[in-house]
Amino acid sequence: MIPTIEWDGQYVRMIDQRKLPSRIEWYVCRGYRDVIKAIEKMVIRGAPAIGVAAAMGLALGGFSIKTKSTAAFMDKFKKMGQKMLLARPTAVNLRWAVERMVGLVERMKTDPVDEIKSALKEESEKILAEDIEINRRMGLNGQELVPAKATILTHCNAGSLATGGYGTALGVIRAAHEKGKKIKVIADETRPWLQGLRLTAFELMEDGIPVSVIADNAAGSLMRQGMIDVVVTGADRIAANGDVANKIGTYQVAVLAKANKIPFYVAAPISTIDQTTRNGDMIPVEERGGDEIFRFGKKRIGPEGVSVLNPAFDITPAKYVSAIITEKKVIRPPFGRGIKALLP
Ligand code: MRU
Repeated sequence: MIPTIEWDGQYVRMIDQRKLPSRIEWYVCRGYRDVIKAIEKMVIRGAPAIGVAAAMGLALGGFSIKTKSTAAFMDKFKKMGQKMLLARPTAVNLRWAVERMVGLVERMKTDPVDEIKSALKEESEKILAEDIEINRRMGLNGQELVPAKATILTHCNAGSLATGGYGTALGVIRAAHEKGKKIKVIADETRPWLQGLRLTAFELMEDGIPVSVIADNAAGSLMRQGMIDVVVTGADRIAANGDVANKIGTYQVAVLAKANKIPFYVAAPISTIDQTTRNGDMIPVEERGGDEIFRFGKKRIGPEGVSVLNPAFDITPAKYVSAIITEKKVIRPPFGRGIKALLP
């Protein structure tokens, strides 16, 4: 499994996911602004991976602050955190990671600046290591929901590349496969960035897990024909009532799953749950540029001047979600109560 992101001496490097699967290329970030750009431009993507990147980016930012005064350091560091928050709005893991890094600086307000800088780097490494561990636990919890022989549909990429490693939805699939269950995966191609075709298929093929890619609009027909047993996706943010924000197209998959009596599971770490967001309507949905839709690669395929809507995520109301798989436990509806019990 190729690493998603890591420290490379004094810099941070990440696999450039825009180039996969054709080329495995490292993208090196020398400062926090490079990390913000990498998140905005989809060099790194996927909610937990964005969180890890934000933490590492802020540690890089910390190293660049030239002051011996802890108060001045804190002031500059918080401003960097504010800028980092704007990189992408939907995945709450970004905010979670920024708050964790800022919280560390606040707790160290009587310590020398050099110690704070080293502690920030260590904290970012800890966030990465914890994320992988969390995904493994989530995988073990989630695989219990998977029958001994199953065809699983997934949307977008909630795999190793979308996290510190192992994956959330793909973590569940990996864990089921590792337990010896006979798993086949159907991956939605996931227009417009094709995360399903380019990343999910690539990861599963590397692991020897059988995978077939479908056009997004084929999912309903396959379900109706009884070709899908279970759906598992990741999430970018889960509201306090269990509504789920995830890659655009997830909502229609969830509605189709319910219409065809197929369980629809969401696998996500607790850091993806946002208690401050009451329901899905309050989750900010990122709108990306129209060229992602009317170009295919570098080639324009739409008519000149065409108007395009390009929401990057959608909201799946909790009533379509059969269970939320977390690293602590699997929660079932009504989610409001289960989510409250899960959080400190
Ligand atoms: O736009 P992306 O590629 O960042 O969107 C990713 C998704 O929607 C994933 O399903 C989600 O972040 C969960 S990743 C474990």
